[in-house]
Amino acid sequence: MDQLGMKINVSREALKYLDDNILLGMGSGTTVEIFIEEMSKVGFKGLRIVPSSRRIDKILREKGYSVVELEDKCDLYIDGADAVDRELRMIKGGGGALTREKIIAYNSLKRIIIVDETKMRENFEGIYLPVEILVFSFKSTMKRIRDLGLNIRLRGQDSPFITDNGNYIVDVLIESKSHLEDISRKIKEIPGVIETGFFKDLADTVLIGKRDGGVEKISKIS
Ligand code: 5RP
Repeated sequence: MDQLGMKINVSREALKYLDDNILLGMGSGTTVEIFIEEMSKVGFKGLRIVPSSRRIDKILREKGYSVVELEDKCDLYIDGADAVDRELRMIKGGGGALTREKIIAYNSLKRIIIVDETKMRENFEGIYLPVEILVFSFKSTMKRIRDLGLNIRLRGQDSPFITDNGNYIVDVLIESKSHLEDISRKIKEIPGVIETGFFKDLADTVLIGKRDGGVEKISKIS
């Protein structure tokens, strides 16, 4: 089965966790977009949904869903991820929506992450950690991140990528197996850094679409 098939299967599995009339937080990315497509085929038009990006906001409205602001806790959050380990730690932000995603995930009673098996990692060595930074001080902020001994690159080829919050993204290479949490904490301490894409304790269940057509579940809750 190809990656698209895995994403469709895992999306269909995640539909089992939905109830009409709940307040649903929604991440961003291609897997989430496939999930929305599958969800709209079934209905669930009574949902109120908090989107994590302008793009997802637009897609949801076009499909007739009620889009609302985050005012308190969502009942459920559904999102994808760029990399996940077996302890349900994640790297997110490939699409640049990491800050809003982290806010909604933090403010949700239950978090389900949907990925295909290519996203599963034993560790995060060799992966880039997305970091959202203020445009105002981006050059000095990048220097301070480099001062930590890290290899980084500003996202965007000809012109920098701009997030929905009007900020830049710096991608930080994780060169060692074990230091991701430490690196994320140190980066976060630098003024000008808005948020990092390291997500810890923000996934309750990870559903993994497999090449053989199955869906594996790793869960911290029953
Ligand atoms: C966006 C994200 C996405 O969840 C992540 O990039 C995965 O995207 P995709 O489902 O397209 O692989 O963190 O900020």
